[in-house]
Amino acid sequence: MTTHHDAHGLAFTASSADSAQRFHDFTTCYMGFRPDTGLVLKEIATADPDMPMARIGKGYLAKLMGSASHSARADKVSAGMGAHLEQVGANDRERRHAAALAAWCAGDLDRTTRIWEDILLDHPMDGLALRLAHFTHFYSGDGRRMRDSLARVLPLWSEDHPNYGYLQGMYAFGLEEAGEYDKAERYGRAAVARNRQDAWSVHAVAHVLEMTERHEDGIAWVAELEDGWSTTNNFRFHLYWHKCLYHLERGEFDEVLRIYDAQVASDITSDFYLDICNCSSLLWRLEMFGVDVGDRWTALAEVARTHLADRDLIFVSLHYLMALIANGDMVAAEQMMDSLRTWSTLDDTQARICADVGLAIADGLKLARGGRHAEAVTVMEPVRYALARIGGSKAQRDVFMMILLDAAKASNDALVARALFAERLGDKVHSSWTWKNYGAVLEANGQTDEAMRAEEEARRILAA
Ligand SMILES: [Fe+2]
Repeated sequence: MTTHHDAHGLAFTASSADSAQRFHDFTTCYMGFRPDTGLVLKEIATADPDMPMARIGKGYLAKLMGSASHSARADKVSAGMGAHLEQVGANDRERRHAAALAAWCAGDLDRTTRIWEDILLDHPMDGLALRLAHFTHFYSGDGRRMRDSLARVLPLWSEDHPNYGYLQGMYAFGLEEAGEYDKAERYGRAAVARNRQDAWSVHAVAHVLEMTERHEDGIAWVAELEDGWSTTNNFRFHLYWHKCLYHLERGEFDEVLRIYDAQVASDITSDFYLDICNCSSLLWRLEMFGVDVGDRWTALAEVARTHLADRDLIFVSLHYLMALIANGDMVAAEQMMDSLRTWSTLDDTQARICADVGLAIADGLKLARGGRHAEAVTVMEPVRYALARIGGSKAQRDVFMMILLDAAKASNDALVARALFAERLGDKVHSSWTWKNYGAVLEANGQTDEAMRAEEEARRILAA
C-alpha cells in the first residue's frame, strides 16, 4: 500500500489511485443521499480490501443507520482497526478517522464530532468529515454548530468543486436551524439551482418554508422538484413528510393520509430509523388534528418492538416509543422505558441527554396517551426549553411541543393552556391548529368573544 491522492488533494493509503478517486465518489454519493452509496463503498472495499478509509467508511455507514444491530457491525469494524492501521502504515488523517469511529462506537458523540472538526482544520477538503460532523451537530440540537462548521470551510472550497453545492445546502440547513431564514433560503436555492437532485438543499429550503409558515409555497417547492429529490435513498420519504406538514396546516387530511400510505410509510420494513421518525411524528400529529388514522400504528409498533434496547439516539428512541404507546403495546413500551432508564445512568453523550430530557418526554408521552393530561404537563413542561438537546430539527421536535400543548388543553388548567397557546401564536401566527386550540382554551376559560375571534382566524386560514 502506498499514498494516493484524489483529484482534490486528499491523501489515502490505498493500493491504487483509482481507490482514492472512488472514495471521493463515495463521499459525493453520501452527500447526495444516492441509493448506491453503500454499493460504491462495497466496490471500493472489494477492489481494495485493506484500504483504511474503505474499512472506516463501512463502520461510519453502519453507525449512520442509528440502530443497535447496525451499531454492532460498526463495533466489529472498529475493534480490529488499530492493528490494521499499523500494518498498512495509515496516515494521520486516517488514524484520526479511526479514532472518531471508535469514539462514536463508545457513545462519545462530543469527542467524535471534535475529532472530525479537528481533521477539518488540517484538511478542510475532507468532505466526509464535514458531512459526518453535520450529522452529529444535527443530533446535538444546536443549529449554530451546524452553521459554523460549514462557515469555517466554505471560503476554502472553490466554487468549481463538484461538491460545492452540497456545502451550500449544508450551510443553508445550519442557517435555518440557527434561525437565519433569509440567508438560509438564499444558500439553499443557490444549491438547488446547481443540482436539482440535491435533496438536502431542497430540504433546507423546505425547512425555511415550514418555519416561516409559507405552506402553499412549501407544497409547490417540494412538488416542482420531486423528479430530482425522489431519486434519492429513503431520505426522500422525509421530504414527503415535509409536504405532509404543509398539507396538515391547510386541513388537507385526505392528502396527508394518501402521501403517508403511498410514500412516507411505504418502506418501513427496511428498518431505517428516519422512516419511523417520520411516521410516528405524522400519525401523532394527525391525531392531534382530530384525524382517525385507523390501524396505521400497528405496522410501526411492529418495527419498534425490534428496537426496545437501542441506545444510539434518544430522538430516535422516543419515536419508537411513540409507536408502541400509541398502539397500546404497553408491555413493550414499559420494557423500552426500563431500557431508557438504564441508559440514562450510563456515561455517554446521549445517555446524559436521555437523563436530562429524554426520560421526561418518554413519561409525558405515556401519561398524555393514557389520559393523565395534567401529569403529562407536569413532567414535560420543565424540560421544554431544553428540548433541543435531543437533536433533530426544530420542525421535528415541534411534535413534542404540540403534545405538551395538547395535554395542557385536555387538562383542567385552562390558564396554563391559554398561556402555552398564546406563546405559540407568537411563532405560528398562520397555524390553523394553534388558533383553533387557542379558541378552545379561551372558551374553556370563559372568554367567549375572544374565543370566537380565534376560531374565526382558524377558519380564515383554512379558507385562504
Ligand atoms: Fe426535515
